[in-house]
Amino acid sequence: MKRVFIDELHQYIEKPVLIKGWVSVRRDHGKLVFFDIRDVSGHVQTVLLPSHKDLKSSAEEIRSEWVVEIEGLVHARPEKLVNKDEPNGDIEIEATSLTVINPSLTPPFDLRGDGMDINEELRLKHRHLDLRRPRMLRNMRAQAMVGKFVREYLTARRFTEVSTPILTKTTPEGARDFLVPARKVPGSFYALPQSPQQYKQLLMVAGIERYFQLARCFRDEDPRADRAYGEFTQLDIEMSFVEQEDILVLAEGLFTDMVEALFPEKHISEKPWPRLTHRDAVVKYGTDKPDLRKNKEDPNELAFAWTLDFPLFTEQSEDDFFHGSGKATFAPSHHMFTSPHPEDVTLLDTDPTLVRGLQHDMVLNGFEVGGGSIRIHDAKIQKKVFDLIGFNETQKAEFNHMLDAFSYGVPPHGGIAPGIDRFLMALLGEQSVREVIAFPMTGNGRLATMGVPTSASFEQLQELGIIAIKKNKELPNAI
Ligand code: AMO
Repeated sequence: MKRVFIDELHQYIEKPVLIKGWVSVRRDHGKLVFFDIRDVSGHVQTVLLPSHKDLKSSAEEIRSEWVVEIEGLVHARPEKLVNKDEPNGDIEIEATSLTVINPSLTPPFDLRGDGMDINEELRLKHRHLDLRRPRMLRNMRAQAMVGKFVREYLTARRFTEVSTPILTKTTPEGARDFLVPARKVPGSFYALPQSPQQYKQLLMVAGIERYFQLARCFRDEDPRADRAYGEFTQLDIEMSFVEQEDILVLAEGLFTDMVEALFPEKHISEKPWPRLTHRDAVVKYGTDKPDLRKNKEDPNELAFAWTLDFPLFTEQSEDDFFHGSGKATFAPSHHMFTSPHPEDVTLLDTDPTLVRGLQHDMVLNGFEVGGGSIRIHDAKIQKKVFDLIGFNETQKAEFNHMLDAFSYGVPPHGGIAPGIDRFLMALLGEQSVREVIAFPMTGNGRLATMGVPTSASFEQLQELGIIAIKKNKELPNAI
C-alpha cells in the first residue's frame, strides 16, 4: 500500500490507509490504546481496538518517539468526540496492523509544547529532536517558502541569482572576521564574508545589472536575541541604474506581496510603508527602528517602515572593527561604500558630521530587518571616505580591486540586504533568531549538536604552518 501523509487523510474516510511517522503520545485506557502519530504534515489519533488482540500485545512496548508504520481504516469521529481545535480532530484511524520501524530512547526533554521553558543549550545539543516540534517544523518551512517566493519574484523581474565566494577577503560590516588558514600560501588566511558587499558591487561593474543571492554571512560579534552568532542568511540584492526610490519600491513590493501570499493571517498596519528620517525617528521615538504597531498584543500585526537620511558617519567607538587606523574619529554609519547625499558632497571637506548618507533601513515591529544604500561609484569620493575613516595607505591598498574596478565604466548602483532570519523572527513572533535557524550556534560560539569547534591535530597545524599558543590548557596540540 502506498504511504499517505497525515494531512491527506480526509480524502480516505472509511478507506484503508498506510501512515508512517513518530509516536508523539501513547495513552493506554485499558481496553483501548491510543497513539498520536506525527509526520511532517501533522498528527492524527490512532486507536487499537480490543478486537485486534495481536496488535495490542505488539503495542505494549511502544513509547513516544518510536518510528512506526500503521495500516488502518480512517473513520469520521462521532459528533460529540470531535475536537474542533485540531486539524484532524474530526477523524481517527482504527489500526489493523502496526509495525515498529525503529525504537527510541526516552528523549532528554518533552517534545510537545513550544519548548521555551527548556534549557536552550540542551535543546541545541539535541537539535535533531527539538526540530521535531511542530513549531520548529513550521519555522523551517517558512524559511523555505520565503526562499522559493523570493527566487520566483526576483527572477521574473530580470534578476540573476549569483553565488559569491565564501573563502574570500575581509568585507568589513562592523564585526570581527572569521579567518581560515590558506594551506597553499602558508601564513595567509581567507576571511569568511561578513556579507557579499564587494562582490555584488563588482557584479554591477560586470554588467549583471540586477543581482540577488540568498547569501550566508559570517560575523564574529556578540550575539543578541535578534543577532545570530557566527552565521546567518541575507537576501542580498543589488541593482544598477537606479535611485534610492527604486530600491525601496522593489523591496516594499516584494515583502508586501510575500506576506500576503504566504502568511495570509498577518496584516500589514500601513501601506505604503511609512517613511521616517533618521532625525525624526530618533526625536519622536528615541530609536531609528521604532515599533509602529497599533496594537502590540496582536501577534499578526506587521508594522513595516523605512528609516532614511542617516548621517553618513557616526563617532568611531572602541567596538568598531572596520579596520580604521584608530586615529580617525569617524566610522561609517552603514558601511564605507555608502554614497553621500549628492547635496552634501562638499560637506565632506568642511563638516563630515553633517553629511547625510543615501542609506535605507527596513524596519519591522521594532527590528532593523534590512539595510542598504546607494553606493559610491566615483573612485575620488571613495578615496575621500577612506581618508575620513582613517585608512592608512596599506589599508587603502586592501581595497585597490574596488578602485581599480571603478575605473572601467561603473554604473550607478545600490541595493539592500534584508536578513532572512531576523525577518522571520519578527514575522513569526519568535523570541530569538535562533528559533528560525535549523542549527544555530550557542551564545559562546558552539554548535552544540556536533561539538564544534574542535581542535586540529599537530599534523594539520604543521601543514598549515600554524603554531597554536596554549592559552587554553584543554588544547591538546598547543605549545
Ligand atoms: P547590514 O550589516 O546592515 O548590511 O546587514 C543587513 C541585515 O542583515 C541582518 N543581520 C543579521 N541577522 C542575524 N544575525 C546577525 N548577526 C546579523 N547581522 C546582520 C539584519 C540586517 O538588517 N552589505 C550590507 C547590505 C547592503 O548595504 O546592501 C549589510 O550587510 O537583518
